[in-house]
Amino acid sequence: MKGTIIGITGPTVTVDLADLKLYDRLKVGHAGLQGEVVRLAGDHAVVQVYEETKGLGLGEPAQPLGVPLSARLGPGLMGQVYDGLQRPLPLMGETFGPFIRPGCDLPSLPEDKGWPFTPLKKVGDRVAVGEALGFVRENSFTHALFSQAGGVITAIAQGDMDLRRPVAELDDGRLLHAAQDWPIRTPRPFRRKLPPTSPLITGQRVIDFFFPLALGGTAIIPGGFGTGKTILEQTIAKHAAVDVVVYVGCGERGNEMAEMLEEFASLSDPWSGRPLAERTIMVANTSNMSVAAREASIYTAVTMAEYYRDMGCHVLLLADSISRWAEALREVSSALEEMPGEEGYPTYLASRLSGYFSRAGVVETLNGTTGSLSMILSVSPPGGDFSEPTTQACLRASGAFYMLDTALAHRRHFPAIHWGQSYSLYGEEVGRHCTEAVCRQWVELRKKSMTLLQKEEKLREVSEIVGAEGLQDEDHFLLHAADRIRSRFLCQNSFSEDAFSAPAQTAELIALLVRQYEQGAARLAQGEDLAVLLREMR
Ligand SMILES: Nc1ncnc2c1ncn2[C@@H]1O[C@H](COP(=O)(O)OP(=O)(O)OP(=O)(O)O)[C@@H](O)[C@H]1O
Ligand SMILES: [Mg+2]
Repeated sequence: MKGTIIGITGPTVTVDLADLKLYDRLKVGHAGLQGEVVRLAGDHAVVQVYEETKGLGLGEPAQPLGVPLSARLGPGLMGQVYDGLQRPLPLMGETFGPFIRPGCDLPSLPEDKGWPFTPLKKVGDRVAVGEALGFVRENSFTHALFSQAGGVITAIAQGDMDLRRPVAELDDGRLLHAAQDWPIRTPRPFRRKLPPTSPLITGQRVIDFFFPLALGGTAIIPGGFGTGKTILEQTIAKHAAVDVVVYVGCGERGNEMAEMLEEFASLSDPWSGRPLAERTIMVANTSNMSVAAREASIYTAVTMAEYYRDMGCHVLLLADSISRWAEALREVSSALEEMPGEEGYPTYLASRLSGYFSRAGVVETLNGTTGSLSMILSVSPPGGDFSEPTTQACLRASGAFYMLDTALAHRRHFPAIHWGQSYSLYGEEVGRHCTEAVCRQWVELRKKSMTLLQKEEKLREVSEIVGAEGLQDEDHFLLHAADRIRSRFLCQNSFSEDAFSAPAQTAELIALLVRQYEQGAARLAQGEDLAVLLREMR
């Protein structure tokens, strides 16, 4: 079956084909541009094209591939840098030069690379879908190979294998391969979801202590222009206590992504000491790349993240920024002439986003292990207006909210997370965990220091009205103590040694600051001089 192009509107193309399915892949035009069916209408179908449609003409061919847009999953993913369609960018650069011409493509995984395979099953064993057949070593990583079908094994590989040959054969003749293609818009299956209760240590004190993220949880970082979203995402990507990081540069500056790639090549994972690139997969669909592929990029990324989750790993997906994804969705939707909702976004924006967030979680995998997929997505509301549709939809769907404040960023208080307006739904569970595992006073200290910060805010309001002279000595002392918590505890310069703080270090620091305040306040109450106390605390 082959069709022809009968209409072109920006990134969407109409083809005269009837027997297609929604989300089927197609190659369109003489160049073979990649696309996906987004609307079926009787005798024709509308295709969202992921590459530049400039130069495409009516009457050019359209070739359906009979499969949905999929990610290729298997050994060789780790350390890769992909675009939104999972094309390996460094290899594309070597092969085709620095500019990707439409229609250029290469396999996502190195097909001929040899991997030493250790089987966990033998001939005669029964295997179920999703069960591990064995594993290969991917750098320092144990990469499980899952069976894509169930049956009795009649042959299984030993020693070296590559992606071109089957790993095993079943009694019904089906061949099992090391790599598989998974439709990116379909969540990968698992046995059941478990509640997120353990902390995901980010190394950022304000997050880990006040607004913790749980493994399997979701968080958003909304912030206006230049408030530190990218730096925060990248700092967390470097330091988070997880097995795998998938980082999506979604519609943001290409040079920031290039700098990050360079930096990651020379840094090590603070937890394992191994090169950071060995635990990281990057998906780059920066502002200078195709808008429609940006829409697909976050799905490609989450599918790869789920794949490692299924191996029992703790995976963190970071995306900068989800607003650019929503804008891509809006662009495609308007080309489809769909009924626009609020601010021109399609009416299904919120349900798409909540569907996306629901792919995070702690799960019992088909293989019986426990894995987690956590998400931290930045949001860039135009004009810093948090009431706009993307921020609101993300707010409703995520479990933690790190609001970046423009005033704090102007004062160079970084990370500019506003402690009065951020929240986390994981605080209670994670607090209990940290009280047992890190510090007995964890929750108590959190309550005390948050109260101090809240009292400070009230006092500042009062002093604005009555003037600083209207405050008591104890108020001045509290203001001073809160100021120390802000500057020494909440601030963390990403470009210094302090960029990462381990939980024990975090607890020690806040315990010291709270103790100094309490002891000082007690001495003040006994009549000691404020000036002496302030001098001592300097
Ligand atoms: N944690 C941090 N430590 C030190 N400096 C920081 C930190 N976060 C942000 N900055 C400073 O703020 C600047 C802007 O940060 P960043 O590029 O991350 O903002 P952004 O919110 O991503 O901006 P945009 O809206 O343009 O994408 C950085 O170049 C850096 O100077
Ligand atoms: Mg940015």
